[in-house]
Amino acid sequence: MQERIRHPLFRDRVVSADEAAKAIRPGMTVAMSGFTGAGYPKAVPQALAARVEQANAAGERFRIKVLTGASTAPELDGALAKVEGMELRLPYQSDPAVRERINAGTLDYIDIHLSHVAQHTWFGFFGKIDIAVVEVAGIRDDGSLVPSSSVGNNKTWLEQADKVILEVNRWQPEALDGMHDIYYGTALPPNRRPIPLVQPDDRIGEPSLRVDPDKVIAVVETDAPDRNSAFSPPDEASKRIAGHLLDFLAHEVKRGRLTDTLLPLQSGVGNIANAVLAGLADGGYRGLTAYTEVIQDGMLKLIRDGVLRMASATSFSLSPDGIAEFNANVDFYSKRILLRPQEISNHPEVIRRLGCIAMNGMIEADIYGNVNSTHIAGSRIMNGIGGSGDFARNGYLSVFMSPSTAKGGKVSSIVPMVSHVDHTEHDTMVLVTDQGLADLRGLSPTQRAKQVVAHCAHPDFRPLLQDYFDRACRDGYGRHTPHLLGEALSWHQRMIETGDMRPAGGG
Ligand code: COA
Repeated sequence: MQERIRHPLFRDRVVSADEAAKAIRPGMTVAMSGFTGAGYPKAVPQALAARVEQANAAGERFRIKVLTGASTAPELDGALAKVEGMELRLPYQSDPAVRERINAGTLDYIDIHLSHVAQHTWFGFFGKIDIAVVEVAGIRDDGSLVPSSSVGNNKTWLEQADKVILEVNRWQPEALDGMHDIYYGTALPPNRRPIPLVQPDDRIGEPSLRVDPDKVIAVVETDAPDRNSAFSPPDEASKRIAGHLLDFLAHEVKRGRLTDTLLPLQSGVGNIANAVLAGLADGGYRGLTAYTEVIQDGMLKLIRDGVLRMASATSFSLSPDGIAEFNANVDFYSKRILLRPQEISNHPEVIRRLGCIAMNGMIEADIYGNVNSTHIAGSRIMNGIGGSGDFARNGYLSVFMSPSTAKGGKVSSIVPMVSHVDHTEHDTMVLVTDQGLADLRGLSPTQRAKQVVAHCAHPDFRPLLQDYFDRACRDGYGRHTPHLLGEALSWHQRMIETGDMRPAGGG
């Protein structure tokens, strides 16, 4: 491990995770590394959870506020949620135990755009950051830090926290050294300057993270893998969605609106995104770029095959097979992948300049194109908005995708009115389901509704949606965006009551 901690001062600060966790006290705001199950601290949060459990047994209240890059893993979110150790969590999460606490009302959750987290911290909106707990892959001779498999908000955490605990994880590949681009040119208004990034592969920063050594109170050595969930192969619905989207892109190239190298791709996480990426390989594309948040297995394959020339992101999210592939060909990949702070990977200015093609999942969309990415029936959070808003609002194209039904066909993902709005009709350009694709660009609300009902709705729900739209056009309060307000959310109410959006349980 000594070779990973090359600065003597940091070697002197090596302690156990239990010892380091003692610095965290009830009520503190703790900023942790971690993004989509990569680069999160693995030992200190678990040691902290054990302390919380002891406090619980003694009848004492021990809760902290936790800020991260995005979702983490059972060793962090799961461990702390299970012992009720968090009173506040932000931003994106996807842990079942955290989700349960949030929806039970025992854990406050602030769901904000991923590009906003760093600047809201600088603005002071979250108060003082007491301690940062940051995983790194190593410490250089000069005391700078080699970031690990995600960068996330680590630059901001290291700068803003009063004290810093570092976890140096030997499991992280040494070859990560040099793959990061940490931009130190951000400032607060009114002193901001343009971010000098004009191509996805531009390097505008430094390969390592700076830290004030006086703030580092503990260094903990670990040797533990990232979450690394395996991907399931794309199902039929995902393949059909990918097929519709790829046909659309091919059509755009034919029309001359895109060239055959498209524009930088942003791809959300999950099955559908993976299927779309796989489809790009079959579509004969070469020399594409990605300006996105996360590098998944599908992207590695595209890079290896030359479909993608390079990818810029803030994090990896690889399966065990993906890790093995990366490690076996690390010299090749390290020249073609850049990891940046999430305030840069998701920066509205850069996304608008590059003209990203934003492709994200959704829970539901309504007939006018408003999109709900986060809530079930208006009240229960699923994960969070993540970076979808950063890209949808600012990309050249914003695409939202979902199977046309959920819960075994009982629930329609196209509804009269969404039960929660994350992306407004003004930001949604293309909707895709397994049924087809609706291109909403340049259309008025009623023109959009016709497209969405005809192309995206499942046949079991299409006549019901058409009937709603027709009656709304006839009886609604106005003709611009016709609705029947007393009925608009009745599908969701029926789902809450019967588990089925269809009238009389399937009629
Ligand atoms: N009504 C009720 N439940 C629904 C639903 C709907 N319209 N659509 C999906 N669901 C449920 C599914 O049944 C599933 O429930 P389960 O966990 O009990 O099985 C769950 O929501 C997840 O759905 P799934 O089909 O597995 O979707 P997914 O893994 O592709 O995720 C999102 C879809 C929207 C939750 C996911 O894309 C997300 O979190 N998006 C927001 C963040 C984002 O876009 N990030 C991208 C930039 S990184």
